[in-house]
Amino acid sequence: MSPNMKAAIALLLTLFGSHLLVHGSADAADGLRYDYSASTECKSHSEPALYQGGILTESTRKTEVKNVRTENGASSPGFVLSNLTADTIYSFSCWVQIKGRDSALIKARLNTASGTTCIGTTLARSHCWSFLKGGFVLDSPSLSSLLYFKASDQNDTTILVKSASLQPFSQEQWNQHREDSIQKRRKRFITVHVSDAQGNRVRGANVSAQQLSKDFPFGSAIASTILGNKPYQDWFAERFNAAVFENELKWYATEPQPGKLNYTLADGMLEFVRAHQISVRGHNIFWEDPKYTPSWVRNLTGNALKAAVNSRIRSLLRRYKGDFVHWDVSNEMLHFNFYEERLGPNATLEFFQTAKQADPLTTLFMNDFNVVETCEDDNASVDNYVVRLRQLMQGDEGMLQGIGLEGHFGKPNIPLMRAVLDKLATLKLPVWLTEIDISRNLGLQNQAAYLEEVLREGFSHPSMHGIMLWTALDKSGTCYQMCLTDTNFQNLPTGDEVDKLLKEWQSIDIKGQTNVRGSYSFSAFLGEHEVSVSSGNATKRVTFSLDGSQETKHINVQL
Ligand SMILES: *[C@@H]1O[C@H](CO)[C@@H](O)[C@H](O)[C@H]1NC(C)=O
Ligand SMILES: *[C@@H]1O[C@H](CO)[C@@H](O)[C@H](O)[C@H]1NC(C)=O
Ligand SMILES: *[C@@H]1O[C@H](CO)[C@@H](O)[C@H](O)[C@H]1NC(C)=O
Ligand SMILES: *[C@@H]1O[C@H](CO)[C@@H](O)[C@H](O)[C@H]1NC(C)=O
Ligand SMILES: *[C@@H]1O[C@H](CO)[C@@H](O)[C@H](O)[C@H]1NC(C)=O
Ligand SMILES: *[C@@H]1O[C@H](CO)[C@@H](O)[C@H](O)[C@H]1NC(C)=O
Ligand SMILES: *[C@@H]1O[C@H](CO)[C@@H](O)[C@H](O)[C@H]1NC(C)=O
Ligand SMILES: *[C@@H]1O[C@H](CO)[C@@H](O)[C@H](O)[C@H]1NC(C)=O
Repeated sequence: MSPNMKAAIALLLTLFGSHLLVHGSADAADGLRYDYSASTECKSHSEPALYQGGILTESTRKTEVKNVRTENGASSPGFVLSNLTADTIYSFSCWVQIKGRDSALIKARLNTASGTTCIGTTLARSHCWSFLKGGFVLDSPSLSSLLYFKASDQNDTTILVKSASLQPFSQEQWNQHREDSIQKRRKRFITVHVSDAQGNRVRGANVSAQQLSKDFPFGSAIASTILGNKPYQDWFAERFNAAVFENELKWYATEPQPGKLNYTLADGMLEFVRAHQISVRGHNIFWEDPKYTPSWVRNLTGNALKAAVNSRIRSLLRRYKGDFVHWDVSNEMLHFNFYEERLGPNATLEFFQTAKQADPLTTLFMNDFNVVETCEDDNASVDNYVVRLRQLMQGDEGMLQGIGLEGHFGKPNIPLMRAVLDKLATLKLPVWLTEIDISRNLGLQNQAAYLEEVLREGFSHPSMHGIMLWTALDKSGTCYQMCLTDTNFQNLPTGDEVDKLLKEWQSIDIKGQTNVRGSYSFSAFLGEHEVSVSSGNATKRVTFSLDGSQETKHINVQL
């Protein structure tokens, strides 16, 4: 802990005495539910603390701004937290207002003996209250920690905090939230009623069910290396129902020189996905990063750039109308602004409008990194993303239809990830994880372990509509950060993890017998199913589609 932090803690102690000390251990009642609520509006009144404040006691919640000095000399309210335990999942939330300036990105930070990390952010304003939601998990216990707030631009900002809440969850409780959510969103109960021609209930009939296809899109990026590569094709098609082309649709790939369009690779890859009933995301129309803009486009300005841009959208979307389920229209615009800088602040909106005209049935996405991965990146704070997303949702009945989160993770902060998803869910648009991987610097075993956590969190979140990995195998036999297999398509630990989850998230070999009422009930993942019912030498098969609903699905079978 830095001397400044010690001084800050000492100051807090003298200001508030021991009632600010709160116990960090998780003794929450078993089965404590997670509160998914969130807000992305600035409200005239703060709302009550989640979990009634959790382990932050009543007296601390009444604490208003006290000028506690943080490292950079700014003032912040703070909480001294005693005895935080390792591996406990801490969910943090509060309402924030600032004074003396209109708006600022405010970060909640946690200082422990092992350093200081961001645990959540909010775009705070004067005169209204903004919701901050995040969390943390510690690698080792911390006897004394300081949770404080600061403006990300380091400027001295007066920060007011209300309704703060710190709720510890055990790993078991957290897993239970996921299970509950999966049962509610990804599965459904089915009752099979079996009768004979006279209407008698058939008791003791054998019922078995198989899932034929999955509703939830789960897939990965592929590269042109898959063309003509049977082992790669088989490996991919056996597992996934969704794909995205890593680079082959990017402008630099399809039009390396002005007017020299070449869709050979993209067409070949499209044939592969069509042959295997795999749906495919279109990635991407424009990439705001100048580094990945074709060099000839980088040289264009004004009307020449405008003409090139229009011809790019039209030729791409006309050629592939109906083929791609999504298009990432303006990639990474939280970090870069190549087009808006040159074509004006409405350029992105116009891209969306043109794309929607060209292919009205595709879903148009924004796509960016570091929104869900961390809260250290000021460009990609969740509220910053929400502001940009809202701009595109307004006007002409909303151009934007989906929220893309790349998901290039280091060591994931799982409660922060859930909190960010909660905030994005307030927009009521489909959310997709579009490019998940774990940094190669962490090693194969950690990649697998962290991947499991990220996938479980993503799959179980109520707002999640699809998950894509970013594991295309390139010509050099490497992947961007993380492969699932070696070059012989033998699974790496990450591939085993994916296979384990794919198996867990489907309903195969469900078996049972009808009860005295002639019925058999079970729960299955959404998708197409075949149920087979037999009694004696009579057998009936029924296929049906199980779509999302809270109602039990009833199937009547007559033997
Ligand atoms: C924290 O834990 C230590 C060691 O178990 C204990 O002595 C101390 O009283 C605890 N502090 C609080 C505030 O609970
Ligand atoms: C932050 O402070 C610096 C120097 O004090 C000032 O130049 C700058 O405008 C401030 N930024 C904001 C956003 O207030
Ligand atoms: C188009 O791309 C393919 C695949 O990269 C390449 O083999 C072919 O030569 C290209 N065609 C032209 C006309 O450049
Ligand atoms: C872009 O402009 C620079 C400087 O005018 C020139 O040297 C370069 O050849 C141009 N590049 C392309 C691809 O046109
Ligand atoms: C992020 O934002 C800052 C300005 O706030 C800018 O200088 C920087 O280039 C941006 N881009 C990235 C990739 O971080
Ligand atoms: C951007 O679009 C808005 C709404 O259509 C319009 O009012 C504004 O003038 C446009 N701005 C520019 C710079 O074209
Ligand atoms: C159900 O299957 C079991 C095992 O195959 C068989 O012994 C039994 O007779 C079957 N029951 C009926 C009602 O067909
Ligand atoms: C099996 O079917 C045959 C004719 O379809 C019928 O005669 C016979 O009784 C059935 N056996 C049983 C055990 O139900």
